[in-house]
Amino acid sequence: MPYAKIVATGAFLPEKVVTNADLEKIVDTTDEWIRTRTGILERRVSSPDEPSSLLAANALIDALDSIGMDKHELDFILVATVTPDMAFPSTACWIQKRLDINQIPALDISAACSGFMYGLSMARAYIESGMYKNIAVIGVEELTKIANWEDRSTCVLFGDGAGAVIVQATEDESDGRILSNYLGADGRYGSLLMKEAEGTVNPATHETIDKKMHYITMEGQETFKQAVRVMKSSSVEALKRAGLKEEDLDLVIPHQANIRIIDALAQRLKVDYSKVQVTIDRYANSSSATIPIALNEANRDGKLQPGNHVLMVAFGGGLTWGSTVVRW
Ligand code: UT7
Repeated sequence: MPYAKIVATGAFLPEKVVTNADLEKIVDTTDEWIRTRTGILERRVSSPDEPSSLLAANALIDALDSIGMDKHELDFILVATVTPDMAFPSTACWIQKRLDINQIPALDISAACSGFMYGLSMARAYIESGMYKNIAVIGVEELTKIANWEDRSTCVLFGDGAGAVIVQATEDESDGRILSNYLGADGRYGSLLMKEAEGTVNPATHETIDKKMHYITMEGQETFKQAVRVMKSSSVEALKRAGLKEEDLDLVIPHQANIRIIDALAQRLKVDYSKVQVTIDRYANSSSATIPIALNEANRDGKLQPGNHVLMVAFGGGLTWGSTVVRW
């Protein structure tokens, strides 16, 4: 049976930086509140002519270039996003068009902030089944385009960006590989975090626009509580499935929703903070893109060495959650 190995990482972030001081000028907030409650100092914001597929295509090209791989070697494109270019065709198809690699399958995954974890698990399953050999898994999000910039309780939290990995088949058992995945969901909590309009329940009308139903809404405190609980339990489950313990971990890459959730996870797992990858200060919460962006930073900074054990863990709207353990 082939194993699934992450052989390349890449990322792309829009150039425009919006600081907390910039936000103080448009909503009733302060740098101090945002910093202490969330850990965010600044975020990247995409321009109107930078759709999700553009960010994602650039992240994928970055990953391909990092190992000198020909784009024609890819045989599947999986894209985790809740901010697609449009409802359909999928963002994956638009990325495929941008790269000019027609014919290979391309698919969007909708699992909010956990989408990249779902994508990694699907890529692993396809590769281990022998169906495909080189799968691009991308997390891309432009939450700033569905944020209500008059709602201080949400708009300060989000940023835009894309991260990509290439998952490849390897026959070598001693090689690095994805050791375990764990996924879950609980639709009973769906209303905690959503964008209500523009679907079949509330098709776009003047009324949905007037009521601002095309923007993200979140019950912050309840989401926070669920996040702390589920991030810990899914980390423990993925470690168990990989046959590892917390002390075996060299790096933890949590979804970047709030520095207090990340701190709570590190404490509960008893993992030294130096082993936790943090990007929320610079990029805020970019949903499904936070983990692949952070993974790429760790990789490019030389923090991922062969044999290292890495835990990735995410939580988001749905509710959904997912975790992955990798031997690099
Ligand atoms: O990525 C997917 C999953 N998402 C998450 O996991 C996010 C989870 N939730 C959170 O991170 C936190 O709940 C938030 C950062 C969203 C909010 O932090 P909080 O400590 O839960 O604050 P809160 O909602 O309880 O609000 C506390 C106070 C309120 O004022 P009063 O009622 O105490 O007077 C808010 O109106 O802070 C006020 N507030 C703000 N003040 C200044 C809310 N937003 C702001 C703001 N600036 N931007």
